[in-house]
Amino acid sequence: MTPTRRDALRLLGLGAVAVAAVPGCSLVAGTPQPQLLAGAAPLPKPYAVPLPVPEIAKPVRSAGGADFYELAERAAEVELVPGLRTQIWGYGGQFPGPTIQARSGRRTVVKLINQLGQPTVLHLHGGHTPPESDGFPTDLVAPGASREYVFPLEQRAATLWYHDHRMDFTGPQVWRGLAGMFLVRDAEEEALPLPAGERDVPLLICDRSFAADGALLYPALSDRPGVQEGYMGGVLGDVILVNGAPWPELRVARARYRLRLCNGSNARAYELTTGGPMVQIGSDGGLLSAPRRVRQIRLSPGERADVVVDFSAYKLGQYVELRNLAGEGAQARVMRFAVDRDEPDDSTVPARLSTVEALDPGKATVTRDFEFSSGSMHGGTGWLINGRPFDPKRMEARPKLGDIEVWRLTSDVAHPVHLHLDHFQVLSVNGERPAGPPEWKDTVELRDAQTVEIVTRFTDYRGRYVLHCHNLEHEDMAMMAGFEVV
Ligand code: C2O
Ligand code: CU
Ligand code: CU
Repeated sequence: MTPTRRDALRLLGLGAVAVAAVPGCSLVAGTPQPQLLAGAAPLPKPYAVPLPVPEIAKPVRSAGGADFYELAERAAEVELVPGLRTQIWGYGGQFPGPTIQARSGRRTVVKLINQLGQPTVLHLHGGHTPPESDGFPTDLVAPGASREYVFPLEQRAATLWYHDHRMDFTGPQVWRGLAGMFLVRDAEEEALPLPAGERDVPLLICDRSFAADGALLYPALSDRPGVQEGYMGGVLGDVILVNGAPWPELRVARARYRLRLCNGSNARAYELTTGGPMVQIGSDGGLLSAPRRVRQIRLSPGERADVVVDFSAYKLGQYVELRNLAGEGAQARVMRFAVDRDEPDDSTVPARLSTVEALDPGKATVTRDFEFSSGSMHGGTGWLINGRPFDPKRMEARPKLGDIEVWRLTSDVAHPVHLHLDHFQVLSVNGERPAGPPEWKDTVELRDAQTVEIVTRFTDYRGRYVLHCHNLEHEDMAMMAGFEVV
């Protein structure tokens, strides 16, 4: 059966009256939407600062086929907006944190040292990680304590990122700066003639709002979980940062660049475009089987896309803006590229990139339903999965190691749904197969009142993991479910 939008709504117990039809978009009346938090500082001038490229983390030692890193989380004063000082919480005192470059199959061990006044949890988003190192939201690292996270990285090359995952407080803690990029490389990808070195650029995109004195604004409820009235749908900043800089500029040669786009925002979705052609080569879970020409790329919080942009299509002196078609006014801008020189370029995008095995839903042992909707919890309103708020002790599913399962996800309003442990493939969106060959994802955006079926295989590790909404305010307000691979 093909579930229609009405079926999805019925599933959520909402009648037709609850749905206000607005031309061009649909809303579920009364359900909170992400809300713009207006800063008090004047908006910085766009394209006035160069794009920073976070430093590459250096291992403190390498031994026994493993690389050991130390990441100290600490508060630091930095200049994000020109002329203002902002206190951040950063890995290594930086925002974004240093980029970790790792190799597929080579163990990477990260010692997290918490020098903040609050508990933290480290999670490698997109990592195929044993449960004790996956950052279960209650596996807290107390202030002053440290913990070693072991990432075996038995997975293909991909653009991952790491961020805080503390239960109920991920939104404010990531907002303060606890996020960084993590690149997994492998021989298959390195054998391809893709743009590399300085022309392989991670772009961590997120939005923030600033007080007049430069402090980061966030509508928190002092030390309690949750956000102030009006922000339950998610917090949108009014300044778009790329690698921590507001609307920056990158000077580029007339050559191909690989841009690793990562949406690290709490609640903002982007529809990114340069106005010209882009070639998507990768997704959350690494290379696509073949390149895909696109005009725009939609990224909900947590999602990544690797694209190649050929700046030789532009003239010297030209500017190429990266814009967000899903944003308005100042927030429709992201960054710009200034084409300022000629340089030789021997990179190409081959017609075949990789092999992506199609997971066969016919082999699934079970289909499970997960309904993402708002509802009442602890006397107030929260975000629930199957009508229940997150309880770290309750496992909503117990898939067997090695099994293939189909998970059917339904939404009231938009929810970027993220699965830990294994990547998945999208089987259908409102009953329709997505166009093109399968790709590996770890986060999929459900738009308003949608049903999305995904198929995955639970591999390598038994233990407890989570499935959750990656709108961080939704996540903190309990839109998370535990599952245990048995
Ligand atoms: Cu990027 Cu469970 O998170
Ligand atoms: Cu994750
Ligand atoms: Cu959500």
